[in-house]
Amino acid sequence: MRTRQTITTMSLVVLLANTVPCMAGQNVPALKDVFTNHFLIGGALNRNVVTGRDPNAAAIAEKHFNTATAENDLKWQRVHPRLDQYSWEPADNFVAFCEKHQMVVIGHCLVWHSQVPRWVFLDDSENALTRDALLSRMRDHIRTVVGRYKGRIKGWDVVNEALNEDGTLRNTQWLQIIGEGAENKQYDYIENAFRWAHEADPDAELYYNDYSLETSRAKCDGAVAIVNHLKSRGIRIDGVGIQLHGSLAHPSVEGLEYAITSLAATGVKVMMTELDIRTQARGYRGADVSQVSWQNTNDPSAAAAETQRKLADKYAEIFSVLLKHEKDITRVTFWGVYDATSWIGGSPLLFDRSYQPKEAFFAVVKTKTSHEGRQDGTDGEP
Ligand code: XIL
Repeated sequence: MRTRQTITTMSLVVLLANTVPCMAGQNVPALKDVFTNHFLIGGALNRNVVTGRDPNAAAIAEKHFNTATAENDLKWQRVHPRLDQYSWEPADNFVAFCEKHQMVVIGHCLVWHSQVPRWVFLDDSENALTRDALLSRMRDHIRTVVGRYKGRIKGWDVVNEALNEDGTLRNTQWLQIIGEGAENKQYDYIENAFRWAHEADPDAELYYNDYSLETSRAKCDGAVAIVNHLKSRGIRIDGVGIQLHGSLAHPSVEGLEYAITSLAATGVKVMMTELDIRTQARGYRGADVSQVSWQNTNDPSAAAAETQRKLADKYAEIFSVLLKHEKDITRVTFWGVYDATSWIGGSPLLFDRSYQPKEAFFAVVKTKTSHEGRQDGTDGEP
């Protein structure tokens, strides 16, 4: 009888061990500890993570991250869906989760051409707003959102993706309406966004954030021009976010180093704000949200050993560059927690669909050992 009970209990334990994924890879080092003397490590969190509906993802975040960004819930469309209606609960949950786990909280994002409702740019008769009306709408939004989390959100992506690949300003409705087609007004919406964010929380850090800064020198130069412009007007800007949506083929070491060093030379901090590496060899490989769809991100070969090895190599290359330039880099944030919930599909993160650390995870940890080895003159091995 006793033996049968023991056997039943043992089978249950074996069954559970096989079905409940080992939470957050309990025996692996925490990334935030590995890089504690170098930069913050974080992730974009979705609603399921912060409300506990995805407890294994929450466990990964708690263990490995000391900073977090809301993946969607602070975007205009989510937080301010109608002119007279704000929707705070999801963003409040995000901020509370970060505070509970002592993570540096990042707000993303205040002014962007995507995930912003149509009404923002229209008057009651559905005509385009005037410059002054749009400026005042933007000011109200920024004051309200930044003001609500004053002292709790440490840094804001104030303006997101304002640049074209050639470094000119993207022709968004923000630019069209507020810039009025005039050369001397083209930076006006950016200037005002930063000014009002600073007014709403004078202690918050303010960032410009964009993709492809590490692949297009012209675009990176455009970001440098934005920083220099704001500085020349005495407007606060603390950092530039290189989103770093990479692929197995990019960025190159040279491209990433160019971006880090030229941005840092303006005197701002540099951060990797949305790191992931697309494993798909086919289909769209950029980071323009309007082009990403299930059809072009589905990737049956993502789990293949060869793909995972290439992914590990690319991550190792990127982290070696980041460690080399650590004096300029304050934060590295992954765009998601584990593969199943990544916005681009495939296998782009450090944890797989069963929440397990991948080869790429260990490759990233190893870059730190090799880096210390280089610094103290050994080869990094014990
Ligand atoms: C993505 C989110 O991850 C998706 O869930 C959403 O459907 C679209 O936006 N650049 C950004 C992020 O600045 O806000 C985008 O996030 C990815 C590209």
